Amino acid sequence: NQTETTIILFGATGDLAVRKLYPALYQLYKKQNDVERFAIIGTGRRAYDHETYRAVVKESIKAEGVEADDFLKRFFFYSIDVENVEAYKGLGELANKVDKDFNLSGNRMFYLALAPNFFGTVTTHLKESGLTNTSGWKRLVIEKPFGHNLSSAQKLNQEINHVFDEQEIYRIDHYLGKEMVQNIQVIRFANPLFESIWNNRYISNIQITSSETLGVGERAGYYDRTGALMDMVQNHILQMTALTAMEPPSRLETEDIRDEKVKVLRSIRPVTIESVKEDIIKAQYKSGILENGEQVKGYRDEDNIKENSQTDTFVAAKLYIDNFRWAGVPFYIRTGKRLKVKSTQIVIQFKDAPLNPYLDQQPNRLVIHVQPDEGLSLILNAKKIGESQETMPIKLDFCHNCTNELGTSDAYERLIHDCMRGDSTNFTRWDEVALSWQYVDSIIKAWDEAKAPLDYYEAGTRGPKAADELLAKNHFHWWPITTVEH
Ligand code: BG6
Repeated sequence: NQTETTIILFGATGDLAVRKLYPALYQLYKKQNDVERFAIIGTGRRAYDHETYRAVVKESIKAEGVEADDFLKRFFFYSIDVENVEAYKGLGELANKVDKDFNLSGNRMFYLALAPNFFGTVTTHLKESGLTNTSGWKRLVIEKPFGHNLSSAQKLNQEINHVFDEQEIYRIDHYLGKEMVQNIQVIRFANPLFESIWNNRYISNIQITSSETLGVGERAGYYDRTGALMDMVQNHILQMTALTAMEPPSRLETEDIRDEKVKVLRSIRPVTIESVKEDIIKAQYKSGILENGEQVKGYRDEDNIKENSQTDTFVAAKLYIDNFRWAGVPFYIRTGKRLKVKSTQIVIQFKDAPLNPYLDQQPNRLVIHVQPDEGLSLILNAKKIGESQETMPIKLDFCHNCTNELGTSDAYERLIHDCMRGDSTNFTRWDEVALSWQYVDSIIKAWDEAKAPLDYYEAGTRGPKAADELLAKNHFHWWPITTVEH
């Protein structure tokens, strides 16, 4: 059975494992017969025994209110100092024992939920101590951040390439595991209605928003070095841009889809000192009041943030994809923390009719609701009831997650399952990562050279005014975040 696996998880007591991975594994365990056969060896610095670890896992799935003994008995703990190569020997022995006890065939998923500066050390030690020399398949799953610029990402990649081939590397971008992000290509390529007008002749602009209400939270150390551009744009936003803009792949094979995304990333117009000031805005939140009435601190007053921090917690940008399909169509992207709503949406705004006899007509729009609602809205014009010829906008809604009683799966559940099945379509290939960094690096360099100022916005608002002005220059405006009616 190709999906059965022993997962060796580094960072087993960390936030990601507890918040996302154990609940996702539990869902998989419940739903999928073919993944019933897995075992997990969690590793970490703490001196846990198996029982203590199982209690941590149990706590993380307690929202399920389940009797989970059969699930929990698959979990084992191995305490390790990842820098000590000697310590891996025992890990290998435990893995072999677990394989034998659970009658697993030696497939190994190495999941590094660790800071990336350990990726090289861990993979090298795994190899040196024979853990990657297994009778089954071996796969490496790694979390972001994959470097902090192109050159650090290249270095990281070289380190892991000594041990794993590109096909064995699963770089997580959890947005690719989201139901509606996966739906983008279906909406486009299974509907000739849309695909025939999905170009610069009919589309006036595209707006991709990923806004959050949360602040920096517990991640000050990481976030203050990173900022919104690197934390969200380099990965999630550019991936959504690529899926929205790519050419139809000739087949739905992994590499065909990735090839098309790469072509988009390669076609993004490079940033210059002149364009960066006009087209890319960075801002930071100040104190403010959230929609729920909560008064929150400004970014610089958050715990462990430098008091003069220049880190961007918001970015808005206009970018162009210089190819035949998109020449002249602005893609507006924005993302930020401590904004008014938590929402990710893609709005495709179509051009106005060539000749418009109706005064109050709105542009047609297709809205892809990624989260929290999942669905589609199509905004059209229709006649107002009565004798006049006035128009009114009408909204046709499709709620995607309402079509299934159980709703849709969590991104991590899908991605772990994909990795078990050996499907890396929804993970990022090295050249995608490299091109995304190249774009982000060019922005940072241009910001520095242009001495671009940091703007500010009040927490709980829609972001800085400059983000609105960015669109107003082209006579557009951000469409309000909407929801899908059920
Ligand atoms: C992560 C970022 O990649 O994505 C976080 O590091 C951000 O800062 C998160 O909060 C957003 O993910 P989601 O799924 O909640 O939109």
